[in-house]
Amino acid sequence: MQELDPHQIVRLEEDGPRVVLLDQRRLPDEEVDLACATAADVAEAIRTLAIRGAPAIGIAAAYALALTALRGDDLAEAERELAASRPTAVNLFWALAQMRADPTPERARALHRDEVDRCRRMSAHATELFAPGTRALTHCNAGGLATGGYGSAVGALRAAWERGLLVSVLVDETRPLLQGARLTAWELETVGIPHAVIADSAAASMMARGEVDLVVTGADRIAANGDTANKIGTYSLAVLATHHGIPLYIVAPSSTVDLATATGAEIPIEERDGAEISTRFTARNPAFDITPAELIAAIVTEHGVHRPPYAESLAPAGGEAPPIRHIPGDGMDNASPSMPSPGGEAPPIRHPGDGMDNASPSRPSPGALA
Ligand code: MRU
Repeated sequence: MQELDPHQIVRLEEDGPRVVLLDQRRLPDEEVDLACATAADVAEAIRTLAIRGAPAIGIAAAYALALTALRGDDLAEAERELAASRPTAVNLFWALAQMRADPTPERARALHRDEVDRCRRMSAHATELFAPGTRALTHCNAGGLATGGYGSAVGALRAAWERGLLVSVLVDETRPLLQGARLTAWELETVGIPHAVIADSAAASMMARGEVDLVVTGADRIAANGDTANKIGTYSLAVLATHHGIPLYIVAPSSTVDLATATGAEIPIEERDGAEISTRFTARNPAFDITPAELIAAIVTEHGVHRPPYAESLAPAGGEAPPIRHIPGDGMDNASPSMPSPGGEAPPIRHPGDGMDNASPSRPSPGALA
């Protein structure tokens, strides 16, 4: 099988015009494209998880704004609709802010290309956390499907595998929508990394049996103090990992770092339809949880490996633009494009010996977009 090209995951076709994305709801059984003719269609695709994963949601929204401009539709209305699609991943609001001044196909494609490039750079940094013979555990899907190409946590696994540091991966199935069992397992199979899907509830005993050396996940939003929102169940893994003396690492691009949010308590958590859990009984369905910073051994961005205290070490990784503050129904009034980024332009972290000049601006990556 061939690695997914970024264009296969999501793209803008100008001679439609339309946004076309690989429908992740149908994977791994079928590889089917979903064509979106309007920004409202893209918002619906995001809401229903046809495309999901924090950076991929942002990229899809960027293409949706470019589509809106090509069609001559109302950009403010499109932005409102997209911003209301999912609340937790800050990449969505980051991407909308990035597109506001220049809602063109070129800008959206550059944003996509940059996210894939960030993934490759952060994944290379993350390999310094892997010792030879590592057996990893991951949760949800933080692969190319979730980032528009290459992946964050799965990117780190790929980079470690390529360097001969990784032996195998335990993949949490990730209840209730099985992003791990359906998407991560499929991606690992595609690139030939040995893996086994486990029930989420098996993680504790796997750790107790000494079968896990580290846990690595992506993130939907990282607060200034390092508290991290990610797929529901990540917090449980962090508690388990701490109990067993196993490090938990977060790998995410700077577009996921939200320095304007002080702590995890301020991160909005999406509560999805209870019918995804049970159609027979009343059900609660929080889609994300917050892992407190003290349970995270390191956070890796394209700038390098950030260690506690995160309030200091994350500062250079603040998103390049301030996220839009989203309150459903507020008409985006609280969006403030001129709000200064708390991350500022601080110098990036350097890691001698990793072969990465992480001070350089975005470079074209092997999977670069045309
Ligand atoms: O509900 P989802 O599938 O969008 O949740 C995705 C996750 O929680 C991922 O771990 C996160 O977005 C990081 S993706 C690189």
